[in-house]
Amino acid sequence: MTSTESPTAIGSGTAATEKFSKERVSADTSPERLSAIATDALGALGQVIDKHGITYSEYRVLKQWLIDVGTYGEWPLWLDVFVEHNVEEVAYRGQSGTKGSIEGPYYVADTKRLPARCTLPMRADETGTTLVFEGQVRDLGGVGLAGATVELWHADSEGYYSHFAPHIPDGNLRGTIEVDAEGRFEIATIQPAPYQIPTDGPTGWFIEKAGWHPWRPAHLHLMVKAPGKRTITTQLYFRGGDWVGNDVASAVKPELILDPKPGADGVDRVTYDFVLDPAAQ
Ligand code: BEZ
Ligand code: FE
Repeated sequence: MTSTESPTAIGSGTAATEKFSKERVSADTSPERLSAIATDALGALGQVIDKHGITYSEYRVLKQWLIDVGTYGEWPLWLDVFVEHNVEEVAYRGQSGTKGSIEGPYYVADTKRLPARCTLPMRADETGTTLVFEGQVRDLGGVGLAGATVELWHADSEGYYSHFAPHIPDGNLRGTIEVDAEGRFEIATIQPAPYQIPTDGPTGWFIEKAGWHPWRPAHLHLMVKAPGKRTITTQLYFRGGDWVGNDVASAVKPELILDPKPGADGVDRVTYDFVLDPAAQ
């Protein structure tokens, strides 16, 4: 892809699928557990077919659409929009630190390491309102965590992510911030725009045919890590922003809403502190 191409569903879907496929993930699921999950999942699907009297035409359309989702590389997108929020809620059970939210398909590991006070990498002509995002990473007892990192990634002011939109340089609006000795950080960036599910691919067709909307509210993505602590993956939203009350991915939580205000210099600032649970033993 050249850097002048405009983003397409098949382009961002293929990039997300390639990134995910490289990870070769595994889980410790016993045959008994797999059998129980699969039996329940197929049973639930059978009930839907029965309840709605699904026809052969509808079944064939479903088959074609499932094939299209794969061809466009949109399984990471579709699953993260419609399923990940349930998995995330189960993962958070029993935790008392900062609430998590979905990772989504656009995380990239090993981004540029940045000092505690920094500006996120951006284009010389990056558009958008400047935002200074500051805070502290602490443990459950309120002690600042030296050695923590705050990975931050977000869309640009048009709603596009670097690595998944060919016109944006790799690493743009992404970074791994190393907090100071008290766990504090202060990051200058720009406010992202709401994100729209691509409408020129099978996830977008599905949403349109169902009469739903394809929008996620503007958000910052974060992955916060510290030695001996449970990593949290979360998102922060903006009070009063479009789609905050109606996210297509059902991933907004009231504890995760920012309310930036202009500082003495007129630049929007906001503080958010992260609290990490101990790592599972
Ligand atoms: C996102 O957070 O950007 C996202 C989440 C789920 C699906 C697509 C995008
Ligand atoms: Fe996102």
